[in-house]
Amino acid sequence: FPRQILTGTRVTITAGPTREAIDPVRYISNHSSGKMGYAIAEAARDAGAEVTLISGPVNLPTPERVKRIDVVSAQDMYAASMNALIQTDIFIATAAVADFRVENSHNQKIKKQHNSSGAMTLTLVENPDIVAAVAKHSPKPFTVGFAAETQDVENYARQKIQRKGLDMIVANDVSRTDIGFNSDQNAVTVIWPEGQQPLELASKAQIARDLVTLISAHYKKAR
Ligand code: PMT
Repeated sequence: FPRQILTGTRVTITAGPTREAIDPVRYISNHSSGKMGYAIAEAARDAGAEVTLISGPVNLPTPERVKRIDVVSAQDMYAASMNALIQTDIFIATAAVADFRVENSHNQKIKKQHNSSGAMTLTLVENPDIVAAVAKHSPKPFTVGFAAETQDVENYARQKIQRKGLDMIVANDVSRTDIGFNSDQNAVTVIWPEGQQPLELASKAQIARDLVTLISAHYKKAR
């Protein structure tokens, strides 16, 4: 693995899930463990980068020599990401951000209604799209997104690269249980406007190193 390829480069990575509060004891979230994002943080650090890791709630130790900022909700992750931008050359969005949050999260625990119809309704509103906002920022860091898809993976990923204005996207088929969410392994297709490259089934640590090598090459070409 080529060390020093990112010396002098500042890399910001989002990782893990977000939690959207329903009330003080309940939330909406997803199965992201943070493993992929943390592995990328370690690989970027080993490549010589100065790394900031903006992390949702996960059960992982902070990698050595990485600056970790803990957040809970998508709105928190958005604010932390915008704050980090002035010191970011490369932004990598690995986090599984909740697309929606509860419109009016309750201050007190919601009580079960005993004489109701047995149904209850939560109104959800859209969260800000963090990586799309990063890609719109001026000056724009080299912006890498992930695309978690369960079908037609490459096609949807190419649409996301366009819609969100990204430099590169990492397509992850999350319909497979041996890779993706929470697994120690992954297999992805890295896609950029003029090309793509598959990274075959391997540990998330290995995928992260290959990814950092590819990102570094494209980042240097774009500069
Ligand atoms: O954490 P692990 O258990 O190791 O699992 C890794 C992973 C499967 C979570 C990871 O490899 C992955 O695919 N992450 C992206 C998950 C996701 O939310 O994908 P998406 O297709 O919904 O989002 C597309 C991109 O937009 C992502 O870069 C996401 O971070 C970003 N996004 C999405 C919504 C939002 N409001 N803001 C964002 O920045």
